[in-house]
Amino acid sequence: MAPRISRMHIGILTGGGDCPGLNALIRAATLALLRRGFRVSGIERGFWGLMRDRVRPLCQDDVLDLTAQGGTILGAHNRADPFRDFDHGGEDRSAQALALARSHGLDGVVALGGDGTVAIATQLHALGLPILVIPKTIDNDVPGTDVAFGFDSAVAIATQALDRLRTTAQAHDRVMILETMGRREGWIALAAGLGGGADLILIPERPFDLEVVVRQCQMGQVYQTHLTREGPGMSPGVGRGTVICVAEGAHAKGQGLTVAHHLSASPDPVRLGGVAEHLRTQLEPRLQSEVRTTQLGHLQRGGSATSHDRHLATLLGSAAADLVARGSFGHLVALRHGQCTAVPLHEVAGRTRPVPPDHAWMQAADALGVGFGV
Ligand code: F6P
Repeated sequence: MAPRISRMHIGILTGGGDCPGLNALIRAATLALLRRGFRVSGIERGFWGLMRDRVRPLCQDDVLDLTAQGGTILGAHNRADPFRDFDHGGEDRSAQALALARSHGLDGVVALGGDGTVAIATQLHALGLPILVIPKTIDNDVPGTDVAFGFDSAVAIATQALDRLRTTAQAHDRVMILETMGRREGWIALAAGLGGGADLILIPERPFDLEVVVRQCQMGQVYQTHLTREGPGMSPGVGRGTVICVAEGAHAKGQGLTVAHHLSASPDPVRLGGVAEHLRTQLEPRLQSEVRTTQLGHLQRGGSATSHDRHLATLLGSAAADLVARGSFGHLVALRHGQCTAVPLHEVAGRTRPVPPDHAWMQAADALGVGFGV
C-alpha cells in the first residue's frame, strides 16, 4: 500500500520522568506517522520544549535504531507544566505554549506520560490543542489502561534484585529488605515480590501492622529452624533468611509516608524514599537476625526495556498513529484486555490506580501465604 500523502504535522514529547521503552515508542509512533505521510517533530524535554521553543524534525534515520536504547532521545523534564511554569514563579504560560504549537504548524501532539501528563494534556485539549497521551510509567498507576509501558522493565529489575538478595539472605540467615519505587501505589513491589518469591510484601494499599511484620519475620525464623532440622539436603544451622519487598509508599497503619525530600518548584513536590531503612530500625531490635536494606531507586528506570515493554510500546505507538490519522484526539491510548483502545482523557484525568484489594495478584499472594504484614 503506497503511503498516503498528507502535510499534517505532529509533535511527539515525553512528559514527566523517563522510563524504559520511551525510545521504542518514539520510534514506533514516528515510523507509523511518517509512513502515513505525516511530518513529525520531537518536542524536547516534555512540555518545557513547548514553552521554550525546542522543536526539531524527526526523520526515519533519527529513530530506526532506538528499540534497545534506554532514556529518551527527546529528553525529560519532571517540573514542566504550562499551567504553572515554575521557572517563572508558577505563572500560567499555556497561551504561549499553544501559540508556539501554532507557530510550528503542529496539527497535533502525541505525549508520552503518566498522571501529570494526563492532567496537563486534558487542560491543553480543552483549550483547543489536539493531543493524545500514551501511558508510560514504571509505577503502573495510570487509570484507564491495564498496564503502562515501563512497568514490566522495572519489575524485571526488582525481581532480579530479589533473586540476588535471597542468596545473600540465605548465606547469613538475615532479613533483607528491598525497597522499590512506585510512589503511592504498590504495583512494582507486588509484582516483583510475587515473581521474586518474597516472604513479605508491604504495599501502600494494605497498611501494615509492625507487630505482625515482626511476628511474620519471627515465624520465618521458626520455619527456618524446622527446615534445618528436617529438610532434605539442608545442613544444620543453614536457614533461608527472610526477604521483604517494600514499596516506597508503604506505611504502617495510622502512620504517614516516608518522605526523602521535598522539591519546592514541582507540580508533585514530594519524593518518597527511606521506608526500608525506617523499617530496619524498627525490626532489628526485635529480631535475632540482622537486617539489611537495599533501595533500588532509579535502577528501575534506567537502561534498556524488556521485550514485553518494547512490544507494548510498539503497539501503542502504532495505535496512536491510527488515532491521529482518524483525527481522534483527546484520548489516552490504552491497552485493555490485550487490545489497544482510546479512552477519553477527561475520564482518567485526576484519578490514580491503586492495586485493588481483590486483584488476582493479591489473591495469589494470599493463597501462597505470602505475608502482607496485616
Ligand atoms: O513516577 C516514577 C518515579 O520513578 C516514582 O516511582 C518515584 O517515586 C519518582 O518517580 C522519583 O522521581 P525523581 O526521578 O524525580 O526522583
